[in-house]
Amino acid sequence: MNEADMRRSLPIGVFDSGLGGLTVAREIMRNLPMEKIVYFGDTARVPYGNKSPKTVQRYSRQIVRFLKTQEIKAIVVACNTASALALDEIREEAGGLPVIGVVEPGARAACEETKRGRIGVIATRATIASHVYSNAIHAIRPELSVIGKACPLFVPLVEEGWTHDKITDEIILRYLDEVLEYDIDALILGCTHYPLLRSEIRRLIGDEIRLVNPAYETANELKRLLRSEALENDSPRMPGEPYPYRFFVSDDAERFAGFANSVLPVDVKSARIVPIEEY
Ligand code: DGL
Repeated sequence: MNEADMRRSLPIGVFDSGLGGLTVAREIMRNLPMEKIVYFGDTARVPYGNKSPKTVQRYSRQIVRFLKTQEIKAIVVACNTASALALDEIREEAGGLPVIGVVEPGARAACEETKRGRIGVIATRATIASHVYSNAIHAIRPELSVIGKACPLFVPLVEEGWTHDKITDEIILRYLDEVLEYDIDALILGCTHYPLLRSEIRRLIGDEIRLVNPAYETANELKRLLRSEALENDSPRMPGEPYPYRFFVSDDAERFAGFANSVLPVDVKSARIVPIEEY
């Protein structure tokens, strides 16, 4: 194998504060089935959504340093909060490796989906406070109106497995009330856990509002990037060969594997624990 082929065959590093980024990994698996993935979930330090930018930047730098030990060819920041607060630091730490966050692809998809120019964004407190989505949307289409709403209870509800629950329905309606009054026609699910509440949100808000999952567009963007940098892996998995996905976490590997099995289209047998504070 020559050097270019070797590089093409390297995995993509994907990371999140914990489990939610698996919704992004799932889209990459579906859309780029030949690509290998090294996933890191910071299960010991989740949630990032109520931490300061400085802390999220420090955590993200450590994760990038760890991912680089795994010989990757690109990094996908599968966490809206880290994409919002730490993308520059991640790029700096990545030292020339291509990096994609979820916010810009999500903002671009919303700009394409909206017809009446009124977009809602739901996300963690930190992402909403950073205004990163409205800035990204206004950089593309300054005339659009954007309303943001932090929904901090959605993450624990998803992690608890309470997606089909009366209580969750009530909480969804309570958070979305204000956003719906704004008469939006597109809603960005601006936190990686929220796509797991997609059918509940859809049922409760009706069919008129387009739901934008930044994970889809992130996988498309990754495809374009790999193509433009001549980094696409073109050697298919052989029949019987295991899926080329490796999972690392900072804590509670068993729970992670159980959750991953409910989200991903492949069987996740285990995840390895990494002492991330040492990186
Ligand atoms: N993964 C985070 C995000 O997409 C949500 C969970 C957290 O707060 O860490 O913003």
